[in-house]
Amino acid sequence: MGDAELIVGDCLEVLREMETDSIDLVFCSPPYEAARSYGIGFTLKSQEWVDWSVERYLECVRISRGLVAWVVEGQTRQFRWSATPALLMADLHRAGVKLRKPPIYKRVGIPGSGGPDWWRNDYEFVVCSSKGKLPWSNNLAMGKPCVYPPGGAPSHRTTATRGSSGGDTRVQGAVYKPPALANPGNVIECSVGGGRMGSKLAHLSEAPFSEKLAEAVILSFCPPGGIVVDPFCGSGTALAVAKRHGRKSIGIDIRESQIELSRRRVAEVIGENT
Ligand SMILES: C[S@@+](CC[C@H](N)C(=O)[O-])C[C@H]1O[C@@H](n2cnc3c(N)ncnc32)[C@H](O)[C@@H]1O
Repeated sequence: MGDAELIVGDCLEVLREMETDSIDLVFCSPPYEAARSYGIGFTLKSQEWVDWSVERYLECVRISRGLVAWVVEGQTRQFRWSATPALLMADLHRAGVKLRKPPIYKRVGIPGSGGPDWWRNDYEFVVCSSKGKLPWSNNLAMGKPCVYPPGGAPSHRTTATRGSSGGDTRVQGAVYKPPALANPGNVIECSVGGGRMGSKLAHLSEAPFSEKLAEAVILSFCPPGGIVVDPFCGSGTALAVAKRHGRKSIGIDIRESQIELSRRRVAEVIGENT
């Protein structure tokens, strides 16, 4: 397998051809319900969208030995949220899929996106599952240096307590050393739009996610040299990020145009190093 294999087709058919537990990470964003047709007449919504998604998500679970992560959103119409991300999670749970607590993809949403009487929609769920403990993870990959040194805010403790964060520098006689990096938490904040997607090519696709989101998921849950599959690869964001960080990838999209775009996106990364 090359660094990025690209396949045109319905991901359901392509995933069915792949071997069980042969992939390290599946990371993608499917077409959202009734958001756009993608020129392929995609109009599914409500439970029909959920059923369509469950069928494909289960194939992702089968092929992955690690994490499966789908970025999803429902729609708000007539002051009602369709709740399809929650319905998808409920149906997956009932089908026996082991969900992980979904991280939040946070970015500043489009004005009015929550409805005229509601808050702007600033986040999407990332529906995640694994078969158990992840065989490989680095949950400090996006970690930052700790904000508070021992004795600093927020606790202002004056006595040593085992397990305290901050507080006295001595814990049962030993000098407390703060970790080099703090766990970044499950809210992944990204800047989107206005040329901040990581590549101009991203804007040739209708609904790309940000490279920063892809980086967070790939660096945290796919080992170096491992394989990432994006079954709805669009402009190839996940594949480009995988390439930049020494991971292999397989991208699938039902449209030839997106496979061609992904090819250019990966080539752009190859160009970064030459
Ligand atoms: C939300 S976009 C993905 C965007 C991508 N994450 C990026 O950053 O550019 C969804 C993609 O799914 C593709 N698609 C729709 N139905 C599909 C199917 N059954 N199998 C594979 N791809 C499909 C669409 O052509 C579209 O490019």
